[in-house]
Amino acid sequence: MSYDTLLVSIEDHICVVCINRPDKLNALNRNVFNDLDKVLDEIATNDDIKSAIITGSGAKAFVAGADITEFAGFSKEEAMALAQRGQDVFFKIENSKKPIVAAVNGFALGGGCELAMACHFRLCSEQAKFGQPEVNLGLIPGYGGTQRLTQLVGKGKSMEMQMTGNLIDAPEAHRLGLVNYVTNAESLLQKTKDILQIVHSKAPVAVAKVIACINTAVVNNDGRSGYLKEVEAFGDCFATEDMKEGTTAFLEKRKAVFTGK
Ligand code: COA
Repeated sequence: MSYDTLLVSIEDHICVVCINRPDKLNALNRNVFNDLDKVLDEIATNDDIKSAIITGSGAKAFVAGADITEFAGFSKEEAMALAQRGQDVFFKIENSKKPIVAAVNGFALGGGCELAMACHFRLCSEQAKFGQPEVNLGLIPGYGGTQRLTQLVGKGKSMEMQMTGNLIDAPEAHRLGLVNYVTNAESLLQKTKDILQIVHSKAPVAVAKVIACINTAVVNNDGRSGYLKEVEAFGDCFATEDMKEGTTAFLEKRKAVFTGK
């Protein structure tokens, strides 16, 4: 499958999705959303793909935001439709059964920060900068930023970042828990792949259940739904061949070989 705005490759069962509009700092326009929607279907249905990485093309930016040139002349209804479209595509990332990780190689601003936050977790290079600068444009985030930044860094810091539009650098993003690791630019993709190879060696159904339970807890945030989901998902794992293989291999003191069944 080919894409107008993405470079997509599959290597060692990892689908690397590179947003490829470097002269516009990989800004998210309509075409990028259509392509992301399509590649997410490919990731979900292609059995050769076990996980995915989202990154940006060029040395400067992961994604510098929604494409501001598309905003001109929008009505309230058109703006709401744009936000809904962005949120729907990002929900698709968040709810993917296969791990999707952001490798943030530069500016992750506005919709770029929101895209990274929709991924299951994030790594970044030392050059990366994060922020929700929409207030500079008389706007607010529309692709989930008010929600996910608050979940990830807490209410006070999220309020400050979104009221001031100030950017944070990689060490600060790491300190706040927005990214799990900071690497030099050359090592970013390899470090991300190394973590995903560890995940690939685990039972895929169990990994998918972890994603579902954590998302249920964070989305509902009611102190109950996540626990209920965990009970059900724990039970579901007992119906898999991989659970039998994992427990048997432990008792036989050998490495488990998972099949995804
Ligand atoms: N939408 C559309 N185009 C964008 C863009 C965006 N969000 N961000 C950058 N670009 C374009 C610039 O217009 C410029 O295009 P041009 O060469 O045709 O003029 C090109 O990308 C390079 O950006 P430039 O601003 O010249 O780079 P810089 O190094 O001086 O500044 C940033 C980098 C990231 C600080 C700056 O581009 C910026 O502030 N971008 C907007 C960030 C933002 O507000 N995002 C939230 C959007 S809702």
